[in-house]
Amino acid sequence: MSAQIIDGKKVAKGIRGDLKEEVAKLKTDGIAPHLAVILVGDDPASKTYVSMKEKTANKIGMESTVKRLPSDVSEEELLQLIKELNENDSVHGILVQLPLPHHINENKVINSIDPDKDVDSFHPINVGNLVAGKKKFTPCTPAGIMKLLESINCEINGKNAVIVGRSNIVGKPISLLLLEQNATVSICHSRTKDLSAMTKEADILIVAVGKPEFVTGKMIKPGAVVIDVGVNRIEGELIGDVEFDSAKEAASHITPVPGGVGPMTITMLLNNTIEAAKAWKN
Ligand code: GUN
Repeated sequence: MSAQIIDGKKVAKGIRGDLKEEVAKLKTDGIAPHLAVILVGDDPASKTYVSMKEKTANKIGMESTVKRLPSDVSEEELLQLIKELNENDSVHGILVQLPLPHHINENKVINSIDPDKDVDSFHPINVGNLVAGKKKFTPCTPAGIMKLLESINCEINGKNAVIVGRSNIVGKPISLLLLEQNATVSICHSRTKDLSAMTKEADILIVAVGKPEFVTGKMIKPGAVVIDVGVNRIEGELIGDVEFDSAKEAASHITPVPGGVGPMTITMLLNNTIEAAKAWKN
């Protein structure tokens, strides 16, 4: 058996088409959804991600502002900029690209963003709302994963979902979203005793550990849906956390890297910015 490939590019493109229409409609109501992105320093990967966010926002007709700050900017100056963006009524979404230079306290920065403009959904108020099942924004990568599962009509109710990786950005929030839809959820991590025994129980397997080709076909239950969140740059090539060639022989559906989860993340960020703009209106 060879798995069906889940085409993240195609799913993302479809959603962006809907978002473009929504932006146009909001503009006729006098609301121009506006995303502000702050980039500190000149990390090449961060620069690429930020310019992709800006380009994609503009493609769907959304306003975008990128504030570029030098790597030696003080924490105070950064907090002052966030304060100004919080108070600017024309800005609906604020994103500070991570990681930040070591002299800046990341938590302090995230906590300073107005939770109503926190389109990453990293602020503790938004994290708490997600845990309580009362979310305003859904964190972007987990939201994208849920859309990919929806695109293949993946049944979640009552299924075993196993997540490899416990990060705040992916592992923890995706576990809550799957739990909300009545999956039986297990979260595995570096101290998990018998990882393979766990992953082999998964009807839905989400891998987000940041280790190239960490999960192999032998670890996958035949017919499982496999979502690979990994983006590992090896000698200029992007490699996932799942060994694609062996995994696709076991899985029923699998995301490729690149072209799986990646294209969904920015799309869901734009979706959150539109949600923020709509809430601003009311
Ligand atoms: N750096 C890598 N991924 C992300 C993300 O989802 N949001 C932000 N703000 N920074 C990131």
